[in-house]
Amino acid sequence: MPASQSAKDFFRPLAVGAPEPLTSIPFRPSRAIHFFDPSNEKMAAKIPQMVGTVDVLLGNLEDAVKADNKVAAREGLVRIGGSTEGLGTGGPTQLWTRINSLDSPWALDDLTTLVPEIGHKLDVVMVPKVQGAEDIHYVDRLLAQLEAKAGLDRPILVHAILETARGMANVEEICGASPRMQGLSLGPADLAADRRMKTTRVGGGHPGYLVRQDPVPDQPDASRPTYQQDLWHYTIARMVDACAMHGIYPYYGPFGDITDVTACEDQFRNAFLLGCVGTWSLHPKQIAIAKKVFSPSVDDIAHAKRVVAAMGDGTGAVMLDGKMEDDASLKQCLVMVELADQLAAIDPELKEQYDAIEVSDD
Ligand code: GLV
Ligand code: MG
Repeated sequence: MPASQSAKDFFRPLAVGAPEPLTSIPFRPSRAIHFFDPSNEKMAAKIPQMVGTVDVLLGNLEDAVKADNKVAAREGLVRIGGSTEGLGTGGPTQLWTRINSLDSPWALDDLTTLVPEIGHKLDVVMVPKVQGAEDIHYVDRLLAQLEAKAGLDRPILVHAILETARGMANVEEICGASPRMQGLSLGPADLAADRRMKTTRVGGGHPGYLVRQDPVPDQPDASRPTYQQDLWHYTIARMVDACAMHGIYPYYGPFGDITDVTACEDQFRNAFLLGCVGTWSLHPKQIAIAKKVFSPSVDDIAHAKRVVAAMGDGTGAVMLDGKMEDDASLKQCLVMVELADQLAAIDPELKEQYDAIEVSDD
């Protein structure tokens, strides 16, 4: 919130007749945000069958959609959003879109078309290449005007992609720029280019980014193992802190090597462990990986529930299997249990697995 604005004004609608802003962003499971190109008829035809099998379906209008197809993609999304049962607000699968970047000739038409036509179904608008709070303020006001005009009764939320060096430097102010802010995703491809990093991969590691073990004394020619490092650790960790500070949700982004399911799972898991709630999926096989990785394992939940049971009123310390548990480790366990409950509420298979856990406190 800018210093010149009263705290009391922050939650006032930005247009007369626009819906009241939310004072907190409810958690909705969004383990996989599955991208589709609404101008691709083959892909579009599969959307109805995907409802209920993935937490979020996102109609992509930006990169990966050819300039000549921008209008067809927008119109395709209007058609799909308007006609697909169970997709969008209230349904089992959320409907998101990624609009074109604000410096493109398409972004304005994206919003002025989508909000009146399918604003009542759209849960989240993802804004790419966000540079600072001013980009969010622009979208915020425009959405309020369009919502008022369309008579919407709840605000459409905004998600920013972290994919410019300036956006990184401004990450906290972006997260706090509007009560609409729902979350951030990492955009490793654009971010790498903007930072002039020297990787040509879309996300994931790089074999050249490593540390090498010290030489063995007196054996300078002996082989020295190397350990590949995570190129994205700093960025993801910063993004997680900025989101947590503002009560919104961090996501990993694209993993471009569709064939390397093992490295994809590793990248997703690193993000999950660091605090992300979900990721993008660029191919149906990445949905299953995301669902698995971003759902706590049965073993983790069994342990967490055991600590919760052993900790009674939540104060003091206990020993379980030789390990100290106290008020703080209880809070760590509650993060996991709360997430398991939220996921179980929408995923019957997971519910069955979590419900089968037997808890003892000794
Ligand atoms: C995603 O948009 C990326 O640039 O990685
Ligand atoms: Mg990008």
